[in-house]
Amino acid sequence: MKGVILAGGSGTRLHPMTRITNKHLLPVYDKPMIYYPIETLVNAGIRDIMVVTGGNHAGEFLRLLGDGAEFGLKHLSYSYQEKAGGIAEALGLAEHFVDGDRFLVMLGDNIVEQSIAPYVDNFRAQQRGGRLLLKNMDDPEHLRHLGVPIIENGRLRFIREKPQTPPSPYAVIGVYMYDPSVFEIVRALRPSGRGELEITDVNNAYIDREEMEFDVIDGFWGDAGESIDVYYEVIDFVRAHGVNKAPAMAGR
Ligand code: G1P
Repeated sequence: MKGVILAGGSGTRLHPMTRITNKHLLPVYDKPMIYYPIETLVNAGIRDIMVVTGGNHAGEFLRLLGDGAEFGLKHLSYSYQEKAGGIAEALGLAEHFVDGDRFLVMLGDNIVEQSIAPYVDNFRAQQRGGRLLLKNMDDPEHLRHLGVPIIENGRLRFIREKPQTPPSPYAVIGVYMYDPSVFEIVRALRPSGRGELEITDVNNAYIDREEMEFDVIDGFWGDAGESIDVYYEVIDFVRAHGVNKAPAMAGR
């Protein structure tokens, strides 16, 4: 399975820092932010990875990451997003790389404490469609800045993007697994109110077809690009507890 890490965008919520660099190059404790999602994918057994970047300082990714040797990779692929047209537009740039395979997309500012390997295995066992990961947040205010699903009888019914009144306690985190039909969905999208192609519209299209599964993750999750306060919450957590922990071994 292939992996795509989205690391473009203008990072306006972290201005003025992101006027002079790309958000995903900012430090999170002792490493640039982009290191964490790469480690997450590598720990889940995904070795064929593309980084989609754009905007400020895109060239720095090559200087920082090179061919990915630091992560045990033989090669790292890159794509460049001309304008900040949204997560789903960036996803469209990976079509050639994905080349008919199934794949996992991770937003470059998302940081997880526990390994996602078990959920990737669940997706591997799935016949078709997509799979997304949820985190129980217990904080309605926080949920207003995220995608929040409506779940009925254990099935996803709809995702509301940044709802004033969250319809459930779950956040849709920035880890998505898709079959190649996602690119047809992306081509049919129309820009949202903020002028972007929204990943939530992609996910709702799968939900409409009843082809979207989910898992609820354990442990800490943070979107370090959500706001300056969340950025520091994530750094505090990483510093105090560490993240990208190894999966529990069977029989241990
Ligand atoms: C995006 C998604 C949102 C999701 C979040 C996770 O939000 O649109 O549904 O909960 O990532 O990080 P954005 O960061 O673009 O505001």
